[in-house]
Amino acid sequence: MTTTSPASSPLPASPGTTAEPSYENTVKLHAEASLFLAGGVSSNFRLGMQPAPLFFERAAGAHLFDVDGNRYIDYVLGMGPNLLGHAPPGVTETVAESLGRGVLYAGQHREEIALARRFCAMVPCADLVRFGSSGSEMAQGALRVARAATGRSLVVKFEGHYHGWFDTVLVSVHPPLDEAGPEEAPAPVLPSAGQSAAAAQDVAVLPWNDLGVVERFLAARGHETAALIMEPILCNTCVIPPRPGYLEGVRALCDRYGVILVFDEVITGFRVGPGGAQARLGVTPDLAIYAKALGAGYPIAALAGKRQLMELIASGVVLHGGSYNTNVVSTVAARAALDELGGDGSAPYLGMEALGQRLMDGLRERARRSGVPLLVQGLPAAFNTCFTTRQAITDYRDFARHTDAPRLRAFLKALQDGGVRVTSRGTWFLSTVHTAADVAETLDVAEAALRAV
Ligand SMILES: Cc1ncc(COP(=O)(O)O)c(C=O)c1O
Repeated sequence: MTTTSPASSPLPASPGTTAEPSYENTVKLHAEASLFLAGGVSSNFRLGMQPAPLFFERAAGAHLFDVDGNRYIDYVLGMGPNLLGHAPPGVTETVAESLGRGVLYAGQHREEIALARRFCAMVPCADLVRFGSSGSEMAQGALRVARAATGRSLVVKFEGHYHGWFDTVLVSVHPPLDEAGPEEAPAPVLPSAGQSAAAAQDVAVLPWNDLGVVERFLAARGHETAALIMEPILCNTCVIPPRPGYLEGVRALCDRYGVILVFDEVITGFRVGPGGAQARLGVTPDLAIYAKALGAGYPIAALAGKRQLMELIASGVVLHGGSYNTNVVSTVAARAALDELGGDGSAPYLGMEALGQRLMDGLRERARRSGVPLLVQGLPAAFNTCFTTRQAITDYRDFARHTDAPRLRAFLKALQDGGVRVTSRGTWFLSTVHTAADVAETLDVAEAALRAV
């Protein structure tokens, strides 16, 4: 662990050690927070961290600084949004400049037009767009539009995919295998107590990456199916890419049965390229949802799609609302972020991809040297590490059956102790401001962590 005293001091040299650092102040603050905040946190995804959910003092570029003076190279990046790094100067200055003009008008402003124009130019499916504040609410909007357009109520989602925490789609995200039902026709599993049982009735769950399963399902129930929603690259489980031809096949089946194809690009949007997964993989959905990298850390999300579908919202047939939609701060932040990402072709992505590739290759090499079966899978801008002897993980059941979760947890804790922060699912996000020095330091820490586990 690297320790810095004044928070503004220069970053020290590479440590390459994973001895347990001090988390004393974090532990104390967590105890204090737990007196008032449920669980001491503001999202359940922050529970269960060891020795406690970390408390941070500040963040800059690719680095985070906690309240015990520990510095981390950050591959969590706010769970993905900070594609431009923490406090990116262009975005920060634009936001600061806007603050004197007020934040919420409950009315329109020019910045929305600039943002929407830029967004629609970058995203292939976006004839029209609407903005909101979070990915979860945009998933609701997409399904509402699909149901209104088709007059059908059933939605197909896939095991291992996450589309937010609301009742209607919080189904079979990572279900326990003994509750998950048959592989080809999984049982819908509701992960949270208190969810409406009706949520499971309107959702059919399928295994992902198997075109035959979708074909058979839609042949039988296509006439009832409003939408099929998926992460086009399965970032919430092991960062699994679609099999060659899978997305094209699903696209064709949706057309054949009149089913609305929804891509959840909350993670992939603006991260895997300026046009997201749909541009990178060359398959255009009917609707798509965005959040995370769109706002460079500020809360903003989008629902975009084909004109005919989005006209249902435009005409008021489908209701979409939100008090905080296009607040000035989030809007100008997103506009500044997209200006940076979309202004110059793929230039901002080239360095990040090269560095991410170097990190992926380096992790593979260090694991091989250490004799540890680490699978590094995904794209340079978002990849996953898990412990398995398999050459690839191709769907959720594969992941649940064949990867070693306790070993991953130990690896992630050792990385944290060494000053490298990775998401609790073992997914690593790159930013445009990580450097070759960050990667070199990360690889040394990772090798020590691999040997330790
Ligand atoms: C693919 C995907 N969709 C939707 C969501 C929900 O977004 P939010 O947390 O902004 O509600 C997430 C959040 O991690 C996500 O990863």
